[in-house]
Amino acid sequence: MKLDGKTAFVTGAGSGLGRAICLAFAAEGARVCVTDIDEDSAAEVAAACGEATEGAFSLRCDVADSASVRAAFTAFTERAGDIDILVNNAGIIHTDPDLLEAMEQTTQAQLMELFSGGPITTHIDTVEHLTDEMFDRMIKIHLYGTFYCTREALPRMRESGKGGRIINMASIMGTASLTGFADYCAAKGGILAFTRAVAREAASYGVLVNAISPGFIDTPLVDPLSDDQKKAITMQIPLGRFGTPEEVAATAVFLAGESGTYFTGQSVSPNGGIYMSQ
Ligand SMILES: NC(=O)c1ccc[n+]([C@@H]2O[C@H](COP(=O)([O-])OP(=O)(O)OC[C@H]3O[C@@H](n4cnc5c(N)ncnc54)[C@H](O)[C@@H]3O)[C@@H](O)[C@H]2O)c1
Repeated sequence: MKLDGKTAFVTGAGSGLGRAICLAFAAEGARVCVTDIDEDSAAEVAAACGEATEGAFSLRCDVADSASVRAAFTAFTERAGDIDILVNNAGIIHTDPDLLEAMEQTTQAQLMELFSGGPITTHIDTVEHLTDEMFDRMIKIHLYGTFYCTREALPRMRESGKGGRIINMASIMGTASLTGFADYCAAKGGILAFTRAVAREAASYGVLVNAISPGFIDTPLVDPLSDDQKKAITMQIPLGRFGTPEEVAATAVFLAGESGTYFTGQSVSPNGGIYMSQ
C-alpha cells in the first residue's frame, strides 16, 4: 500500500475530486480526515473511506474562515496526532445564473460572427459584472483557503520531524486562462505562485509542496456548463473526453507517496492534452 501509516487532511472533500482523493488515499492505507463546509457530505465520504482503512473521520471546515480552519486543525491534532499529507482542494466556480446565461449568449454570438467570417462585435464583458462580493468569495475560498490550511499544517509537519506533503488543487486555468472566468483564473494563478514559494521555504524540513492542475473533469463543479459548452470544450480535448475524478486522485496518490520524492514546487496536469506546456 502506497500510503500505509500516513494521515491526510483533505479540504472540500465531500464531493468530486476531494471525495475521489479521500477514497484513493484510504484504499492505499492512509487514515483520512475528510473535511468540507458541508458536514453531511464529509461524513458520508468518511464512512465510505472507513470501509477501506480504519480511522477515517470527518470535520466541518470552511476554508474561507481562518477561525474555522484553526478549529478543524486543532480537532484533527487531538484526534489523529501528526499530519503527513494536506490536500488543499476546496473550490467553487461562479454560479450566478444571470452571469452564466449572459456568458453563454455572448459566446454563441461570437462563434456565429467568427463562423460567418465577420469581425467580432459582441463582447464578453463578464469582468465588468463581477461584484466585489463575487471576486472576494472566489479569492477567499481558493487562495486564502490554501494559505490558512498551509499555515496550520506547516508547523505541525516541521515539529513532527517527519516532513510531509502539501498538494494544492490548481487548474489549467491558472496558466491557460478561460474566457468569462477571470476571478477563477486569478485565484488558481495565485495558488500556483503560492505553491512554488512555499515549496522553497519548506524544503529544508522535508515538506514537498506541489500543485495539481487538472483540465476539465466530470464533477458537480462543471454542472453549470451547458451541453453545448461541454461539447465545444470536448472538441478541443485531444483525448476526446472530460477526465474522471479517479484520474485526478491517482495524481494525488503519486505526489503523496514514494513516487513523488523528487517533486517539489511543480504543477502536474491531468488534462487530456487540452493544454500542453513544456
Ligand atoms: N472539476 C473540474 O473540472 C476541475 C478542474 C480543475 C480544477 N478543479 C478544482 O478542483 C477542486 C475540487 O473541485 P470539484 O470539481 O471536485 O468540485 P465539487 O463542486 O464537486 O466539490 C467542491 C467541494 O468544495 C466544497 N467547498 C466549497 N466551498 C467550501 C469552503 N468554503 N470550505 C470548504 N469546502 C468548500 C464543496 O462543499 C464541495 O464539496 C476545486 O478547487 C476546483 O477548482 C476542478
